[in-house]
Amino acid sequence: MIDIALPKGRLGDKVYAKFKSMGYSADEFEQNTRKLVFEDKEKGVRFFLIKPSDVATYVARGVADIGVVGKDSLIEAEVDVYELLDLEMGKCSMCVCSLEGFVDDGKKPITIATKYPNVTKEYYKNRDIDIVKLNGSIELAPILGLSHVIVDIVETGSTLKENNLKVDTKIMDLSARVIASKSRYSFNKEEIDTLIRRMQID
Ligand code: PRP
Repeated sequence: MIDIALPKGRLGDKVYAKFKSMGYSADEFEQNTRKLVFEDKEKGVRFFLIKPSDVATYVARGVADIGVVGKDSLIEAEVDVYELLDLEMGKCSMCVCSLEGFVDDGKKPITIATKYPNVTKEYYKNRDIDIVKLNGSIELAPILGLSHVIVDIVETGSTLKENNLKVDTKIMDLSARVIASKSRYSFNKEEIDTLIRRMQID
């Protein structure tokens, strides 16, 4: 049995569709229930539906063999796992953004709102900064004067545009990755490698 941690939401739905096209399926997944564990007994696969920012933790602690996680959540989680595959899905970027008209002179201390405090600390490592950790709707922070800038994900750019914000700097490109638990991988190497190869091909 291979245990697979999927992120709840759009990315998880896409990845599940990929597994389905590879012949793995769990009917209940498609029935929009509140269930969090789905099984394909015949193929020996179990899917767990997990909050995207928690997928890396479940895999790192060895309760799932592999997981699908955005590179952003993976870096932020600072966990010790194997990164096996770039799925080239969920492509977006991590950016510093601010209100139209705001200019950071790079000298004065600034306040930064973000869901990603570790990424932010690393990016601004030589700078005097104050980080406000938020869990969503990050774009509101500069609008309401909670922060000067934000460090956040930009995909289509429409949230920025509709809120009169702009990208100042792109920090990194991001996409979905397949990660594996180091302990589970040492026991299930062949099975996991076979699955990863199939994911590369299909
Ligand atoms: C993410 C991100 C941005 C938005 C970017 O938020 O934090 O707010 O998507 O996407 P766009 O460039 O296509 O507009 P999410 O939708 O995950 O919701 P959240 O505000 O609850 O974090």
